[in-house]
Amino acid sequence: MAIREILKMGDPRLLRVAQPVVGFDTDALHLLLIDMFDTMRAASGAGLAAPQIGVDLQLVVFGTDEVNPRYPSAPVVPRTVLLNPLITPLGSDEETDWEGCLSVPGLRGQVPRFLRIHYTGFDQYGDPIDRSVEGFHARVVQHECDHLIGKLYPMRIRDFSQFGFTSVLFPGMDPLDD
Ligand code: NI
Repeated sequence: MAIREILKMGDPRLLRVAQPVVGFDTDALHLLLIDMFDTMRAASGAGLAAPQIGVDLQLVVFGTDEVNPRYPSAPVVPRTVLLNPLITPLGSDEETDWEGCLSVPGLRGQVPRFLRIHYTGFDQYGDPIDRSVEGFHARVVQHECDHLIGKLYPMRIRDFSQFGFTSVLFPGMDPLDD
């Protein structure tokens, strides 16, 4: 078990299109997932994508099964391992809300996302995942899967007047939260 270094925006490894996972239920995959959950938990992240720790694979983890201290008012998202994901928007409705990213520390921005999505993929054992979700869960999945195509949330911002330092936007928030 190890907490991995999280790459920060500007690192070209965050801009790659990730490779599909081809081997499920391997020792290497299970060890990688332990590190990813340890790293996500240590940083109080809502999710983590493999490219954020320099691993060029279509693999994301998210959810906690409990309230996240960085997003205390957000609904609980089930702890999920998602490999080779495919997202399909359900309708064209969007919702704009604050996002942060462990690769963009200290900042928050208002990001439009599809309100409702259907997503598929596989867990670490190769069992299929097939869910229709909305709201915060849909936002987290869209944010994490964007990391697999080299997109960071600032690239999705449309109104840059709603992008800034967490410590300025939310003065009461613990600055260590980001
Ligand atoms: Ni992120």
